[in-house]
Amino acid sequence: MITKEIAKMLIEQINLELHSAYIYLEFANYYESQNLPGFAHWYKVQAGEEYEHADRIRHFLIEAGETVTFSPIGDTVKGFKDAMGPLKEGLKHEQFITASINKIYEKAVSLKDHLSANFLQWFIKEQGEEETNAQNNIDKLEMVGLGGTALYLLDKEFARRED
Ligand code: FEO
Repeated sequence: MITKEIAKMLIEQINLELHSAYIYLEFANYYESQNLPGFAHWYKVQAGEEYEHADRIRHFLIEAGETVTFSPIGDTVKGFKDAMGPLKEGLKHEQFITASINKIYEKAVSLKDHLSANFLQWFIKEQGEEETNAQNNIDKLEMVGLGGTALYLLDKEFARRED
């Protein structure tokens, strides 16, 4: 139903999505250590979303009759200077994921693997939202600064993220 080349790329993408969850949970660890539970919550929710992305691809491949197996997940980034560190890293990471999704999509189109190309369109839209969210978080923290009442209130805002 789908090409072997795209199936292989999608299995690698599952790994990247699970790696994203791992990276974002590491961000949550950092924010917990900085007494910013709202920021930690935001990234815990984001990690859950990444797990769902991985599972969406896994499900698609299995439905298409492919066999899925996993590889080791990569390391995380640690040792941030301040609360802005993970947010900047998060935007960079989402841009990397967008490039990866686009590459698979372009390959699927070139191979006339229409089923995979159609499936990937959901991810292209999702990546647009992911990059916007990551940029918005940076903009908000730049506006409020790295301390004081405004940061406390932004942490409360991040604590209200539901999905
Ligand atoms: Fe699944 Fe944040 O990209």
